Amino acid sequence: MYLNNNQYLLEGGIDPLQLGEKYECPLYIYETSIMKKQYDRLVNAFDLKKLKINYACKALNNISVLKFFKSLGAGLDTVSIQEVKVGLLAGFRPEDIIYTPNCVSIEEISQAVTLGVKINIDNLSILEQFGSMYPHYPVCIRINPHIMAGGNSKISVGHIDSKFGISFHQTPHIHRIVKAHEMVVEGIHMHTGSDIMDIDVFLQGAEILFEVAAEFKDLNYIDFGSGFKVPYKEEDIETDIEELGEKIGQRFKKFTYDYGRNLTLMFEPGKFLVSESGTFLVKVNVVKQTTSTVFAGVDSGLNHLIRPMLYDSYHKIINISKTEGRQRVYNIVGYICETDTFGVNRKMTEINEGDILAFKNAGAYCFTMASNYNSRYRPAEVLIHEGKDYLIRERENLEDILRNQVNLDIFGEPKSLQSPMSDLNSFELENSINVDPKTLDHHVQ
Ligand SMILES: Cc1ncc(COP(=O)(O)O)c(C=O)c1O
Repeated sequence: MYLNNNQYLLEGGIDPLQLGEKYECPLYIYETSIMKKQYDRLVNAFDLKKLKINYACKALNNISVLKFFKSLGAGLDTVSIQEVKVGLLAGFRPEDIIYTPNCVSIEEISQAVTLGVKINIDNLSILEQFGSMYPHYPVCIRINPHIMAGGNSKISVGHIDSKFGISFHQTPHIHRIVKAHEMVVEGIHMHTGSDIMDIDVFLQGAEILFEVAAEFKDLNYIDFGSGFKVPYKEEDIETDIEELGEKIGQRFKKFTYDYGRNLTLMFEPGKFLVSESGTFLVKVNVVKQTTSTVFAGVDSGLNHLIRPMLYDSYHKIINISKTEGRQRVYNIVGYICETDTFGVNRKMTEINEGDILAFKNAGAYCFTMASNYNSRYRPAEVLIHEGKDYLIRERENLEDILRNQVNLDIFGEPKSLQSPMSDLNSFELENSINVDPKTLDHHVQ
């Protein structure tokens, strides 16, 4: 989103306020031009023939987004069997999908084997079970290099106390299992955390991974995971991708030379590819002045964007209804029945009720973590591609909330959940309230 003649615009000159009107707020908007820019930046940072970028679809899992990354030539990084299935439906070939589950059952992993995707195993117990069931199915092994990486403790996953990966000190044990079942280890993997600023952390982890990898003779690839940090505010530090590409690339070339075979270098970024592509629009319902604070209460909450409450993430918030005028300081809060503060002491153009606020960096881990808490609907999603807007997910409605609920008749005659809106209509008629609930449902999110 950029400012042009006092108006915020999106890719192709699209006015976000018009999108807010067309699709209604709250609304997630994603720009493919930014996804492509980030993808190209990463690919161009490496001077390597065999580089594979697997998009970590947990960040933003809409099938149309997956198809877009496939069109760029990306593979897919998945962590659940459902992500695998959506990836296949998006058109990815099984060999272009890597499945890296943690603490899932062997039955789920068996399903992934049936679907033919790459399997990444992160604990010795499952490795042993897998070896006895599928000795000839190639596997990748997730190593825990014991390094502290990541923006905060909740998103650091490569340290000694982390539940992820097999300790690199347990490599002898891995070898015993592999040998006993005559397994084929085709890949070695690590992922140490998210929001990693310092590229030395990657290099440190990479050295450990190279040490482990050198002991496996059937490798086709080494996967360095992800964790690249993107900027959240002006002058924010971000991972220097170009420097990382140059340093890891060179070290990788040396490793493959010593190893004696040309391997593929893989990464699996989520945030880096989609965070900045996303904007979340909300409408201000209430401006509330208390004795100490001015709150702007919006038509959303932790049910739509939980990152600030879950791990203190920062999302820049802009009043796009007004680009000029008096600046005031606000706490931006949601409508949920817990404290759901999006931003504290945010200075912005004076807010009036009805104004539209835009949250930046709303592409990664925003919609995918949304829920129906307080029986609220999840918002619509719109993709902007080559100057056109496309609805890629419809806003939910009451039918969606009730879809899998079982309306027991032992507590009284149930109103049919098949068509709740018509039941609500008759309820409104019975109570002589002169409001069309369809209209109500449409406007109240
Ligand atoms: C195994 C794995 N790979 C890749 C990612 C993507 O990380 P990021 O969004 O920081 O790029 C994650 C995120 O949690 C992950 O768990």
